[in-house]
Amino acid sequence: MNSAKGAQANAPLLKVGMLGAGVVGGQVARLLVEQNNDLAARSGSQLALVAISVKDLKKPRPDLIHRGVSVTSDGASIVNDPQIDIIIEVMGGIEPARSLILQALKNGKSVVTANKALLAQHGAELYEAAADNGVDIYFEAAVAGAIPIIRPLRESLAGDQVKRVIGIVNGTTNYILSKMAASGASFESALKEAQALGYAEADPTADVEGFDAAAKAAILASLAFHSRVTAADVYREGISDVTADIVRIANEMNHVVKLLAIAQLTNDGRISVRVHPALLPKEHPLASVRDAFNAVFVEAKSAGELMFYGRGAGGEPTASAILGDLVAVARHRALGGLGPKESTYAERSIAPMGETLTRYLIRLNVNDRPGVLASVAQVFAAHSVSIQTVRQDGSDEQAELIVVTHAAVDAALSATVDHLRKLDVVRSVETVIRVEGGAN
Ligand code: HSE
Repeated sequence: MNSAKGAQANAPLLKVGMLGAGVVGGQVARLLVEQNNDLAARSGSQLALVAISVKDLKKPRPDLIHRGVSVTSDGASIVNDPQIDIIIEVMGGIEPARSLILQALKNGKSVVTANKALLAQHGAELYEAAADNGVDIYFEAAVAGAIPIIRPLRESLAGDQVKRVIGIVNGTTNYILSKMAASGASFESALKEAQALGYAEADPTADVEGFDAAAKAAILASLAFHSRVTAADVYREGISDVTADIVRIANEMNHVVKLLAIAQLTNDGRISVRVHPALLPKEHPLASVRDAFNAVFVEAKSAGELMFYGRGAGGEPTASAILGDLVAVARHRALGGLGPKESTYAERSIAPMGETLTRYLIRLNVNDRPGVLASVAQVFAAHSVSIQTVRQDGSDEQAELIVVTHAAVDAALSATVDHLRKLDVVRSVETVIRVEGGAN
């Protein structure tokens, strides 16, 4: 990328400080040098990375030193340096990232961050500090890595009414579920494979139990519905209870199992926001999103259905989103103007999970005797849950019943399951999983 060589030799200089120098930060540093002329031509400023804060100063970083960047373990010295104009935060975690970003904003520096956990917990405070100080906070890399989805929701769809956002926003879990579907592997062995390949962390809790996806769901829901949504508002279930059996049954029924982040408007205008595994019909566009890829499917009143697909993690893809944000905030420095502020005017409230309409697949092991199906059906009726399909397999005295329901409030569906567990003719409730993306 040298076509802009020399074109911006006289462009004003903007100094950039970076908090964190891990997989993503290393790629940002490299690309900032390699693409410097183009970035200058596009942003109207020479962008120079002048300082980086790292956790471990002893770790050799020949690349960074070679480029004349000062490396420190003192992040505060970067955010308080009056010479530095823009801060990139790629350290992750809540503290000290929160305090450093707030200080940077207070000091009049625009901030580009990839920190979804921080935004989902303390977004309001960060937006407010940016607005109070007349600077930008940009965060395209916080949700789904390289995939442009923040800017489409904040800007491109600002004239539309978003109804629903469904995302596969965690690559680790999508990789695990894809392996389970492709090879019949158990959750445990697919997780080990994901760890061996470097997708899953040694402690995989944040990914596997849906915390990472829940933070992203909160960010997407806030933007889609112009209301404040935090990670605590998100109903969350992970994938550690998804068995090879569930994946096999899904396949037999022409579905796949995916960990979905769903943000939608309820019929009465509240926000339902949740992360849980669900069966998705194979013909749904998200069903073909495999391995560590991410995608976000948006349903809007006028635009209709949109899908954003790509790499949701990894150093270079995430760096792409960060550099895009860097160019945007640098343009504002050169030409004036600011990016969008927090938009919460709609002030929609959050619908509890129990009041959200969902559909369930319930697999039961029952005695195979006359009247059993009728007793089971009666339980569904007692909770006003309508059955869509029933499949029965089995031999001897036992049968397996697979019931798929129509949409009902989640509390009624879970009460149905509790009731079924107590029914004499039901030997066991083997599987309970939600179903999304089809007809209700
Ligand atoms: N750990 C995340 C994933 C990437 O597996 O998708 C960063 O959010």
